[in-house]
Amino acid sequence: MPAVVIIGGQWGDEGKGRVVDFHARYCSMIARYSAGTNAGHTIMNEHGKFALHLVPAGIFYGDKVCVIGNGVVIDPDILLSEIEMLSSRGIDTSKLIISDRAHVIMPWHRVIDVADEKLRGSSAIGTTGTGTGPAFHDKVARIGIRVGDVLDSERFPDQLQKVLDYKNRVISGLYGELELQYDAIFAEYSAFGEKLRPYVTDTTSIAQDAHQRGEMILLEGAQGSLLDLDSGTYPFVTSSVPASVAAGGAVGIGIGPTAIERVVGVYKAYQTRVGNGPMPTELFDEDGALLLEGGGGAPGTSEYGTTTGRARRTGWFDGVLARYTSKLNGVTSVALTRLDSLSAFDRIRICVAYELDKERVTSLPASLEDSSRLKPIYEDLPGWKQDVSEVRHLDDLPANARQYVRRIEQLLDAPIDMISVGPERHQAIVTRDIFGGNI
Ligand code: IMP
Repeated sequence: MPAVVIIGGQWGDEGKGRVVDFHARYCSMIARYSAGTNAGHTIMNEHGKFALHLVPAGIFYGDKVCVIGNGVVIDPDILLSEIEMLSSRGIDTSKLIISDRAHVIMPWHRVIDVADEKLRGSSAIGTTGTGTGPAFHDKVARIGIRVGDVLDSERFPDQLQKVLDYKNRVISGLYGELELQYDAIFAEYSAFGEKLRPYVTDTTSIAQDAHQRGEMILLEGAQGSLLDLDSGTYPFVTSSVPASVAAGGAVGIGIGPTAIERVVGVYKAYQTRVGNGPMPTELFDEDGALLLEGGGGAPGTSEYGTTTGRARRTGWFDGVLARYTSKLNGVTSVALTRLDSLSAFDRIRICVAYELDKERVTSLPASLEDSSRLKPIYEDLPGWKQDVSEVRHLDDLPANARQYVRRIEQLLDAPIDMISVGPERHQAIVTRDIFGGNI
């Protein structure tokens, strides 16, 4: 059976968690394959509302193997808190497994994340400050510490000493921050290691064996394709290696790319972004403010970050960027989220092209930063001004809402199979179940 990847088609926060939650029922294994604590999923189900950063959203099924793959960087403190929170709320975490090859976020990573942003001044990226970026830097610099290293009592003391000596020179010399103390870090991380030990294993072999047995594996992307290091709005991107795009899924769990047969692209019905960087369709007016507060959609749909609580920047759907990421990921099925959040608008705009130096372009320029040279070209569609949160069939959507959905589908050049109309698990229109055929 093939593996399926679920990716965000914009700048993250598209609502991937609920789409994973929906498709997870067909899979025996659900895996996170990239990013770290910077990622955030909000999931609402019969157990309540949950904000997860590291544990795969499939954990709520209880019978699925949930993998934190080799491509993820792990803050053990946050992971352990998440496991404890889930257990205390009655969620079984015994099927969680953690790759011994995943890299660990160390205390210096958080210090450097914040200090680096200060140094960047007006060019700051607006990182989550979770240490995720610096942990990936160390992975690429080949001085990262992996989960398996922390559990290895022979190797860890010496490795920690060497890396810490180097990092303290950077922390004090470059950033003027206080040096970190070996003993405290060693004690803290050794304790984390012991608590995580029951979950840590060679997840690569387990995933390969599951694939060999023909089991369905769901690869859960983090962030969005426009934040991808190679393909996103560089340098205002995240640092995940392997990539946040679908192609990274195979690498981040250790299976071959031929295993991936389906790619579900999750797109919000409008655009949001947290952190800095270009966003051509950003709104600075009352329409933007309305989107921030949920756009007249179902309660609990305002746009504040799961990880940092920051207000998200809001804007109209950008069809140029969306088409780009649809092709980039080889999207075979689309989940369109938060359609209900457009219910308050008389007129809804979709960006269908850009004007760049007076030329109309529909492909993505390498740099979007100079907003004086680049303007979105909009198509205006009539709003539906009606609550859609109880709609469960496409035909029951107001005609204007169907027109909006169809236009987005054309721009993405991929079928929209699921539309979310509210935050609850059941508040969705499913037009085609990608595993089960038409419903
Ligand atoms: P970092 O990943 O913390 O280094 O942040 C780099 C950029 O990615 C910043 O603009 C962050 O706001 C953004 N970012 C990181 N994780 C997420 C996420 O889960 N959702 C949305 N944006 C994110």
